[in-house]
Amino acid sequence: MWLNTRGARGARLAALACGWFAAWLITPAALAATQDCRAVTPETCAVAHGLRRGVNLGNMLEAPREGDWGVRAERALVELAASNFQTVRVPVRWSNHAAPTADATIDEGFARRVDEVIDALLRRGVYVIVNVHHYTQLVGGGRHNREFSVEPDVVDTRFVNLWRQVALRYQNRSPKLIFELLNEPNGRLDGEPWNKLAAQALTVVRQTNPTRSVMIGPSYWNNVRDLPLLRLPADRNLVMSFHSYEPDDFTHQGITWRPRPMPTGIACCDARQKQGIARVFETAAQWNRATGVPAHLGEFGAHSAGDMAARVTWARTVRDEAEQRGIGWAWWELASDFSGVWSPPARDWVEPLRRALLD
Ligand code: BGC
Repeated sequence: MWLNTRGARGARLAALACGWFAAWLITPAALAATQDCRAVTPETCAVAHGLRRGVNLGNMLEAPREGDWGVRAERALVELAASNFQTVRVPVRWSNHAAPTADATIDEGFARRVDEVIDALLRRGVYVIVNVHHYTQLVGGGRHNREFSVEPDVVDTRFVNLWRQVALRYQNRSPKLIFELLNEPNGRLDGEPWNKLAAQALTVVRQTNPTRSVMIGPSYWNNVRDLPLLRLPADRNLVMSFHSYEPDDFTHQGITWRPRPMPTGIACCDARQKQGIARVFETAAQWNRATGVPAHLGEFGAHSAGDMAARVTWARTVRDEAEQRGIGWAWWELASDFSGVWSPPARDWVEPLRRALLD
């Protein structure tokens, strides 16, 4: 992995300075591009367009326990994210910090930990997306190490009750806090089951947060392929969230958590691959024009086993596809081993990736 060798102090100062400039240096093309907002309120339209450049605090609060996956939502990382991006997505595994019963009473110590992170970010004035991430039983997936399971008949009710509590807890926070109902619904939730469950969760959210912007994405891991199946509830404060790891054999090369091995040495981006990437954004943009609901790219990233030059080309290509359509994005992820743009051991940016995302 390419890393530069400036000292930690210099790097921190440079990081803060870059962030300050990044907030102002938005390219004219990105500023000009807007999405169709006719089905949402002016407030949610402004949120969707304000999201611009973002990053995921990945592998932190959505690990089975914070720290299990090698990184924590440390104060310095939270500050780094807030000072260099306009949006920070905070994936949270609430389900593993809640009662195994239908009420899913959330552990107060864990909730306070999430409060700390969210409030630190909101104080810095960035948009914050908080979600339910990796409730693996909800989608019928295999349990992660140190993740507990619950009785099958309480799985869905727990999801709704998690939202009842999260929504109540954050009801008085700034409108810059956005709720995203579920990361990557898939498996047993594909299609209609997700539409039904999302509507139930939104109903409890609306009891305490009548106008907060809420993100709901298509099933099949938030893939635009499933947009034709997505039926959004009648609500004027929604944003559609999608993910893109296209082409998958490039972005997921060398990962070990799938049943089949993912070969390495896959290059990017030839004309065919670029077409595939563009098609994702064209599909999202067409859906936006058809529905009047704005879209957001909640995750994109290319695994560190790939060639750095190719990952840089890929990151820049995806970013440009999004920005030229006025679609905000969030890189997966800040400081872990999938495709961290910051290296904790070096205490510095992974500079080629930082440039591809922010220059
Ligand atoms: C998952 C991560 C994974 C990433 C890329 C995310 O939604 O939470 O664990 O590394 O997608 O596959």
